[in-house]
Amino acid sequence: MGFKELSVSELNKFINIPADIKIYDFVESTNVVAKQYAETGAAEGNVIIAHSQTGGKGRLGRKFYSPKGTGIYFSIILRPKVKTEEISLITPVAAVAVAKAFEEIAKKSPKIKWVNDIFVNGKKVCGILSEAAFGADGTAQYVILGIGINLYAPENGFPEDIKSIAGALLEPNETIDINLLLSNIINNFFKLYKDLKSTDTVDAYRTRLLLKNQKVNYIKNGEPKSGTVLDIDEAFQLVIETESGKTEHLQSGEVTVGSKEAAKK
Ligand code: BTN
Repeated sequence: MGFKELSVSELNKFINIPADIKIYDFVESTNVVAKQYAETGAAEGNVIIAHSQTGGKGRLGRKFYSPKGTGIYFSIILRPKVKTEEISLITPVAAVAVAKAFEEIAKKSPKIKWVNDIFVNGKKVCGILSEAAFGADGTAQYVILGIGINLYAPENGFPEDIKSIAGALLEPNETIDINLLLSNIINNFFKLYKDLKSTDTVDAYRTRLLLKNQKVNYIKNGEPKSGTVLDIDEAFQLVIETESGKTEHLQSGEVTVGSKEAAKK
């Protein structure tokens, strides 16, 4: 286990966009640091990387476990010039970029759990948290795209609360060039980011969709529901067939596997 450290010069060898990369040993959260840079005018393409995070942030107010030596934690500053309703496409597009890099560089077969968790061998190995800041006129001033990857399982295993879900991209005896992996993610993302509404990207997501045809539980308008995952639509919304045979499109939130009865247990 263990890997060659990320380095700005190595990353710059492979990254094909004008990126400005900063690497910290530890921070509270790379999203927080990136936000501070963005607030003081940092341009799109600034990338903040940390070897560990003391307060890594996950979606829905959760924490993202970010120990040193076993993962990659980074945030990219974006200044998207797109309609406000397209901002929400950034995260699923990033999920496709990550999944492709896991295939190309790590030779794995990742699946995307809607909206933006990447699973390998049934375990979550990557999470994505996008945070947008909007101006008074409602347009996005910047978006912080934060991505955390569990490269290896920690020596003493994942903490109790995430143990059943969290996994690692690599086996202990596997090594890959992590500078190549990270630059591939960044290159893939900026290629797809040029056209957030590309149907090719939607198709790329679709072919990697986890939970297709499976029964899931979800909350819509505060109400717990269950149904079967059919697909995603052109806006990366999850298409679910409800128990009463209706079709619903979920724009955000989270689904969990199992019947409603199982969820009550
Ligand atoms: C999730 O799984 O809910 C999203 C996790 C996102 C974690 C990454 S790690 C880099 C960036 N900085 C953070 O504090 N969070 C994101």
